Amino acid sequence: PEEKVALKARIRQLLKEKEAVLVAHYYVDADLQDLAEETGGCVSDSLEMARFGRDHPAKTLIVAGVKFMGETAKILSPEKTILMPDLDATCSLDLGCPVDEFTAFCDAHPDRVVVVYANTSAAVKARADWMVTSSIGLKIVEHLHAQGKKILWAPDKHLGGYIQKQTGADMLLWQGSCLVHDEFKGVELELLKREHPNAKVLVHPESPANVVEQADAVGSTSQLIHAAQTLDATEFIVATDNGILHKMRAAAPGKIFIDAPTAGNSATCKSCAHCPWMAMNGLQNLLDVLETGRNEIHVDPEIGRKATVCIDRMLDFAA
Ligand code: 13P
Ligand code: SF4
Repeated sequence: PEEKVALKARIRQLLKEKEAVLVAHYYVDADLQDLAEETGGCVSDSLEMARFGRDHPAKTLIVAGVKFMGETAKILSPEKTILMPDLDATCSLDLGCPVDEFTAFCDAHPDRVVVVYANTSAAVKARADWMVTSSIGLKIVEHLHAQGKKILWAPDKHLGGYIQKQTGADMLLWQGSCLVHDEFKGVELELLKREHPNAKVLVHPESPANVVEQADAVGSTSQLIHAAQTLDATEFIVATDNGILHKMRAAAPGKIFIDAPTAGNSATCKSCAHCPWMAMNGLQNLLDVLETGRNEIHVDPEIGRKATVCIDRMLDFAA
């Protein structure tokens, strides 16, 4: 703990000296989330991270999250320096959607509007018409469906399937998934609900359909925290990365939060309810990048210019 206090103090000092701000996701280490808040940065879902990074006057953004979040920050603010504690922190959705295969998929379906989830590479975004996050994907697809548009969706099949069911839109789905949310189990959740009949169920839409179907609230990480605060219940079962519990407990004091069941447990399953890439962000490597300026995110300027179109569309729609 003493070492932690010293690390945090040094990070605070360097953030000031370097005119840098910390932008963190709810799944990263609780210390990083707290530091981001205490130092005038932000801790939020991916939509808010993108908006905050774009609008903040700091010269340097330290993005504590995964690669696509750093890339999005760079695309929206090419003039800023974007650093990340670990450049190997990626995402199974991003990895499962290589740009060449994705381009061939798009080329084979030129009659469809291309909508991609934020959890993709800059190169994939450069080929898309719209980018969406989990907080606004449903509304954007509703909007496109109302205009009679047919949609090509990538990469998360569960989020895509959920949106398709809710909107009735014609959607052709890429078959990607998140290795963390894919582990939540519908049947086991039913059993757990029987043990906790008054609990409400909060689900991130990257989870399988038989889990989402049992939800009292479905949404992005920020929306799930909001639901925990506002829904009339004292007990909640939570189907998303357990990094969120830190903020959920602080936002809804006195309420009880229970992890939704996964196939394995933490001894047998490395990614159960916690993203191995989000877990790569820590106090020590955050301090290292602040001290050295290492781990800068670069996006090819041409790709960045193209990718900005689909991100700006989302941000304008959200405004
Ligand atoms: P949110 O935009 O809901 O924070 O989701 C990001 C993510 O990677 C979820 O796994
Ligand atoms: Fe990607 Fe899943 Fe990790 Fe989110 S939790 S960053 S979707 S692998």
